Amino acid sequence: CGITGYIGKNNGVEKVLEGLSKLEYRGYDSAGLAAIDNGKLNIVKTKGRLKELEKLVLEGKVEGNVVIGHTRWATHGVPSGANSHPHTSMDGKIAVVHNGIIENFRKIKDSLLEKGYVFKSETDSEVIGHLISYYYDENKDPLLAIKKAFDSLEGSYACLIIFLDHADKIFAVKKDSPLVIGVGGEEVYLASDPAAFIKYTKNIIYLENNEIATLGSDEIKIFNMDLEKVDCKVEKSNLNEDSASKEGFETFTLKEIYEQPKVCMDTLNSKLENGDIVYEDFPFTKEELSKINKIYTIGCGTAFYAGINFSYLAKKMLGIESFEILSSEFRYDLPNLDENSLIVAVSQSGETADTLAALKEARKMGAKIVAITNVLASAITRLSDYSIYTLAGPEIGVCSTKAYTSQLMAIYEFILYLAKATGKIDESKFKEYIEELKSIPEKQKKILDDVGIYEEIANVIKEKSSAFYIGRLIDYKTAMEGALKLKEISYIHTEAFPAGELKHGSIALIEEKTPVIAVLTQEEVFEKTLSNLEEVKARGAVTIGIYSEIFRGKDKTDFSIFVPETYKVFYPILTAISVQLIAYNTAKALNRDVDKPRNLAKSVTVE
Ligand code: G6P
Repeated sequence: CGITGYIGKNNGVEKVLEGLSKLEYRGYDSAGLAAIDNGKLNIVKTKGRLKELEKLVLEGKVEGNVVIGHTRWATHGVPSGANSHPHTSMDGKIAVVHNGIIENFRKIKDSLLEKGYVFKSETDSEVIGHLISYYYDENKDPLLAIKKAFDSLEGSYACLIIFLDHADKIFAVKKDSPLVIGVGGEEVYLASDPAAFIKYTKNIIYLENNEIATLGSDEIKIFNMDLEKVDCKVEKSNLNEDSASKEGFETFTLKEIYEQPKVCMDTLNSKLENGDIVYEDFPFTKEELSKINKIYTIGCGTAFYAGINFSYLAKKMLGIESFEILSSEFRYDLPNLDENSLIVAVSQSGETADTLAALKEARKMGAKIVAITNVLASAITRLSDYSIYTLAGPEIGVCSTKAYTSQLMAIYEFILYLAKATGKIDESKFKEYIEELKSIPEKQKKILDDVGIYEEIANVIKEKSSAFYIGRLIDYKTAMEGALKLKEISYIHTEAFPAGELKHGSIALIEEKTPVIAVLTQEEVFEKTLSNLEEVKARGAVTIGIYSEIFRGKDKTDFSIFVPETYKVFYPILTAISVQLIAYNTAKALNRDVDKPRNLAKSVTVE
């Protein structure tokens, strides 16, 4: 979910709606806002996309200079008007928007029900307004009421709260969900992501966990949960408005696909100094790194598929036993961890609840934790000993593209750093690898300059209700990401298999014209994968190959795509672009909403 707020001397409704439009990637099944106008608190909320809310706002001529808004990805309760935020207290004088999850809401709801409180929704969030109103009725002190309420609420939250009795303020509170304050002269903005207000101000305060802020048009105060005032630092953001606009592309996703050469280059360069990889303030010594005897990569979705490249490379290039475990499984099936275990957590948003929960467990056991993330000072960075930032910039399309390849770039760099620090590669080999990495963005551009074939391929895939990806070794990693991309934006059921495994059962699913897409970049298994393609072809499949340029002339598929030659271990950062283009063109051919595929959200802050 995404939240925004505005307080100032002017009507803030439009700015809050505009902010919500920048946050729709965080959820888009319902939306709502609350505005205080001349002593009245107006609430408008509805199921559906933001444009439905905009219609209602227009019809109702809703205005106000104190406004909070919400765009939802349903967790507790179906998308509906009643379940949409803002939620209010029973007297309608307090309104709340919430991003996160209240884990103990059932217990609190039961006790409020006993006290006679009436609930209108099935959400966990509704308890917040009622609980605040319960304490507010005791002493009429809004700050104290918020503190007391959040003292008993467990879980994660970024909340904005407004009181009709205190119409000159917005209250904000945060734990484990992002919340930033934008300071723009006599106007103050709040949002889950600065993209929501960057057009109006670049002066940003990052609210920390367990802080409450009171925001007025002329004063901002921040308190800890003991209500002691704490200092706040205003920082200048280097985000620009363009990063949240389509810049002439038909969708954000396509724009982001084309940004990959740049963001991969930026990510690489951010750590390169005079030909060396430098991680400022890296906390582990060479001796400590040399003692690492187990590596676990964790993550969810696309981030997990980036992470599995890390485990593969760690085995190959560091000779360390390495495993990949999905965050949601890791948490309940913990391996034996100690200070010689390294956890590499990959997360674009840095706020995925499953990964956060897994990291909390790993921390307790004393493992070393390195995060690879795209969001500065996100929750995951706080749980990690060190964070490597990808420089992908804001990714708005829900399916991850540029975040994935920039994660791969960060992973390649980190592997090389570890290999050098632990003496696994010599200086000259290290230099060769770095030079090859530097050439990657140009190779990615080449793929993006030659996209004619993808439409043809899409027209074949779109006719069928299921498709398969196959690959061996590192190509299988790309196959998994390719299958995820295709299914999430085209809604065609797609599965990935290690190419050798298809014949052990799943080949039964191949019918006339079933698309089978193979990734073929690894010499030692090339012929084997080709044979697997022959097997499916013999059973009617349409075959599509994504080959390394080194195999040009040896291709045997109905459609053949070639990516430039690179080092064996670096192919995924090139083949990723081809699988994205296959998914993109298929989704377009089927008229899907590529930027906002059904049922999904970009940041999933529930377990
Ligand atoms: C959601 C998104 C995926 C993403 C995953 C992990 O499910 O829809 O695209 O890969 O979360 O997100 P993270 O922010 O941790 O990379």
